[in-house]
Amino acid sequence: MIYNACNMATLNLQRKTSQPLYCNHDHYLMALNTFNQHTRHQEILAKWTEEEFDSNVVKVLCEKFSGDKLDDQPLRVLGVGSGGGYQETLQLKKLKTKFSRISATVIEPSTEQISKYQEMVRQNSSDITGIEYKWHNQTFQEFERSIAAGQKYHFITIVHAIYYVGKVEETVKTFSELLEPGGMIFMAVKADSDMSLLAKTFPQLAVEEQTPTTTTESHEVKTNDLISSTDVKSVLSKNQMAYTQSSYTLSPDLTTCFTEDEMTPVTKLVLDFITTTVKFQESVPDETFNQVMDYIKRNARVKKSDQGDDKYYFDIECEILVISK
Ligand SMILES: C[S@@+](CC[C@H](N)C(=O)[O-])C[C@H]1O[C@@H](n2cnc3c(N)ncnc32)[C@H](O)[C@@H]1O
Repeated sequence: MIYNACNMATLNLQRKTSQPLYCNHDHYLMALNTFNQHTRHQEILAKWTEEEFDSNVVKVLCEKFSGDKLDDQPLRVLGVGSGGGYQETLQLKKLKTKFSRISATVIEPSTEQISKYQEMVRQNSSDITGIEYKWHNQTFQEFERSIAAGQKYHFITIVHAIYYVGKVEETVKTFSELLEPGGMIFMAVKADSDMSLLAKTFPQLAVEEQTPTTTTESHEVKTNDLISSTDVKSVLSKNQMAYTQSSYTLSPDLTTCFTEDEMTPVTKLVLDFITTTVKFQESVPDETFNQVMDYIKRNARVKKSDQGDDKYYFDIECEILVISK
């Protein structure tokens, strides 16, 4: 038998059928997309980009790299775990207003996600003239092994993908080495909130980074669901790297978990995402299910609806870190 992170997790926990979410790429994408739609995650980030990106990022990069400082070279942007590219495209469009030439290196191991990104670029080609894309359908770890010595970027963007690329300290160090002096990193990451505490309270739901495994899409997937902004900020402080931070909250509505006999398919997928478990309700032992639901109910924010009913929101805090070199 070949042991990998996924089947070891299953064995260690004596689960009969349950699987960590990252071991099942199709289900992971379904749960992620459902969670993002349900919490309007993309809209919240897009609003931040619309209102804050210019002053926090574009202005600073302009001071460092505009005019002849780039020596006729394009601004080099590196996207890590770019997904379908929605947030990255918004950022690139903002950068494009000040930098006439941009070289965007996109790293995304999911073939489905990178194809979506490429399709969006094709459809919006007139909006992004002057951006030259370099597509890497691979993990950051694979990319890092193949990168030319001395290759550097002016801007690195990583939106909720730090959990997958390795140990925080090494990742931050690698990013810093890949950054031009004066360059910046944009990072969105979960903060320590009830979702991370849930993973800590029920370690069987969060699998620490272990041996890489290969998915049906033939790329390595590892995850560390326990990584939070606190870990990143402690590495930044230790390495005396300056950063600014802002926060936002995602508030999945889990009311029907506690008020209906049967959860809706959307609630089930949102719960799979929160518990990082494939088909959480069906696959974990009843005792674990009841304990986790009890934890969620105790930690939920209860708000009265207009009809006077209790609504249960499980708030998840996130942070945006803008790091300078
Ligand atoms: C939560 S999604 C975020 C996607 C995108 N940044 C966004 O904001 O919509 C995380 C992304 O990281 C990608 N990913 C997983 N493992 C990775 C790795 N080792 N290196 C780079 N990206 C990875 C996944 O395929 C997924 O698209």
